[in-house]
Amino acid sequence: MARGVEQLIFLISLLLTLLVLCRGSTIGVCYGRNADDLPTPDKVAQLVQQHKIKYLRIYDSSIQVLKAFANTGVELMIGITNSDLLPFSQFQSNVDTWLKNSVLPYYPAARITYITVGAEVTEGPGNASALVVPAMHNVLMALKKVGLHKKIKVSSTHSLGVLSRSFPPSAGAFNSSHAFFLKPMLEFLAENQSPFMIDIYPYYAYRDSPNNVSLDYALFESSSEVIDPNTGLLYTNMFDAQIDAIYFALMALNFRTIKVMVTETGWPSKGSSKEKAATPDNAQIYNTNLIRHVINNSGTPAKLGEELDVYIFSLFNENRKPGMESERNWGLFYPDQTSVYSLDFSGKGVLDVPANKSLTSFNGTTWCIASNNASQLDLQNALDWACGSGNVDCSAIQPSQPCFEPDTLVSHASYAFNSYYQQNGASDVACSFGGTGVKVNKDPSYDNCMYMITGSNKTAASNTTAIASTSSSAQNEACAWISSFLLMTCVVYFLSFEH
Ligand SMILES: *[C@@H]1O[C@H](CO)[C@@H](O)[C@H](O)[C@H]1NC(C)=O
Ligand SMILES: *[C@@H]1O[C@H](CO)[C@@H](O)[C@H](O)[C@H]1NC(C)=O
Ligand SMILES: *[C@@H]1O[C@H](CO)[C@@H](O)[C@H](O)[C@H]1NC(C)=O
Ligand SMILES: *[C@@H]1O[C@H](CO)[C@@H](O)[C@H](O)[C@H]1NC(C)=O
Ligand SMILES: *[C@@H]1O[C@H](CO)[C@@H](O)[C@H](O)[C@H]1NC(C)=O
Ligand SMILES: *[C@@H]1O[C@H](CO)[C@@H](O)[C@H](O)[C@H]1NC(C)=O
Ligand SMILES: *[C@@H]1O[C@H](CO)[C@@H](O)[C@H](O)[C@H]1NC(C)=O
Ligand SMILES: *[C@@H]1O[C@H](CO)[C@@H](O)[C@H](O)[C@H]1NC(C)=O
Ligand SMILES: *[C@@H]1O[C@H](CO)[C@@H](O)[C@H](O)[C@H]1NC(C)=O
Repeated sequence: MARGVEQLIFLISLLLTLLVLCRGSTIGVCYGRNADDLPTPDKVAQLVQQHKIKYLRIYDSSIQVLKAFANTGVELMIGITNSDLLPFSQFQSNVDTWLKNSVLPYYPAARITYITVGAEVTEGPGNASALVVPAMHNVLMALKKVGLHKKIKVSSTHSLGVLSRSFPPSAGAFNSSHAFFLKPMLEFLAENQSPFMIDIYPYYAYRDSPNNVSLDYALFESSSEVIDPNTGLLYTNMFDAQIDAIYFALMALNFRTIKVMVTETGWPSKGSSKEKAATPDNAQIYNTNLIRHVINNSGTPAKLGEELDVYIFSLFNENRKPGMESERNWGLFYPDQTSVYSLDFSGKGVLDVPANKSLTSFNGTTWCIASNNASQLDLQNALDWACGSGNVDCSAIQPSQPCFEPDTLVSHASYAFNSYYQQNGASDVACSFGGTGVKVNKDPSYDNCMYMITGSNKTAASNTTAIASTSSSAQNEACAWISSFLLMTCVVYFLSFEH
């Protein structure tokens, strides 16, 4: 009997572990409100649900926002601002009162799962760093008093500036001048199984040293790899390299159990003349690749298969943010709720045709054609590739078909390039063809020769993205199956020992 109970307990804990694993990596969005033209929180809650965003980070505990997201099922990360750290660190009663008046009345209808205490404290002026850990302890204590410390995790966000070295990733190390508060913070996180929260911006790394960092590497588009000479690990993107720098910095201090969570990352869609990489196309490429990368559950080179939760910055363009032009253009949406560029949060489907892509062209449609001044040899190679490995249907440019005339290489290549481009998400990279492709805003169709537009035939595009999503859904299915099997086993065990 005793052995049976032991086995039962073992199986149940295995089951619970598996259920946790089944959750997989998640993608959320940051809802910054440093603007004077944003829709009301109620409207925002509708927008968020419409786009199937399931995780949202806010920077305070606005009652209006908590009310708007009540009963939406959206999981919320709320925040205590740096300016509140002083009262929150000084007296437990301040925190208890805040929790009682500003949070509990809306919980659990508003599904709060994290509280960030202070944000990027090493960046700001003043004493925020010295106050953050005492404030975290007080918040945890307040949660313990009402029995919510297991359901709501307490942490604090950081910029990459907490590191003194981030390259190569294996040399990642925290800046020792922050040790006085980081050390007790890491102990707090380890003790309470809270994640280390980091804001990661490959965009800034590229903007600040475009000669050292390739744009492709920052955008997850690199075909070459960067090797870490100490570990031999291969990096194909900067995002992974920066996260691993954090993992190695944690390991160097012997904190091996703390998980990393990315509380901000993204790419601006517009910038000043000095910020050439801030374009809607680059922002779309970065965030699309980011989502696919994260949803795939592939982890990072140093932590293969490790689950990673990531929040994209930001929901809206925020017109009151100070700084360079790009600062006000990180949004996925304009204040009028139209998309700046289309983004599929599931990481699975085809890019939808955007509602408002006015930054790229008038009604959102672009075509890709062959450049007039490309060499014949380059054009022929690119055409052969498109009709071969590129999987383009080139029957329309065969003799007697509608796009055969004019019988020139430029014309035939244009037709094939465009089909490839439209079938592959109409992203900039799908129109490169070794520099022989050119994007245009005018429909190149003529007579009976019709050029494809995105959405007119999604067959090829859906196939390529379907492959990327298979592993994740297969994993979830397997997880669910194993869990049900274990549940059944548990029940059988339980019943057999009852009798
Ligand atoms: C902030 O730090 C300064 C110098 O480090 C110190 O003089 C001051 O007392 C601190 N203020 C608070 C409120 O802790
Ligand atoms: C470490 O932090 C201190 C204080 O913020 C700063 O002055 C110093 O430049 C940093 N060191 C490195 C290597 O980033
Ligand atoms: C960037 O390039 C400069 C000169 O080209 C070099 O001195 C510097 O070490 C490089 N930085 C990194 C992080 O590779
Ligand atoms: C998805 O994961 C597999 C390995 O699990 C990897 O080979 C593949 O490149 C990953 N895809 C993306 C888009 O990261
Ligand atoms: C499209 O976006 C532009 C911003 O570039 C905005 O001014 C315009 O109102 C939007 N149009 C629609 C129909 O939403
Ligand atoms: C956009 O306008 C072009 C003509 O300039 C037209 O051929 C195309 O069908 C339009 N696209 C959409 C999505 O309305
Ligand atoms: C190709 O020709 C166009 C003019 O037709 C010119 O504007 C463009 O710079 C040329 N491109 C290259 C790569 O030479
Ligand atoms: C899409 O293209 C395939 C061939 O590439 C064709 O068989 C199919 O009918 C097309 N579908 C539509 C809706 O045009
Ligand atoms: C897309 O996938 C379907 C089956 O999933 C297959 O029948 C079809 O041939 C594929 N199309 C292309 C263009 O690869």
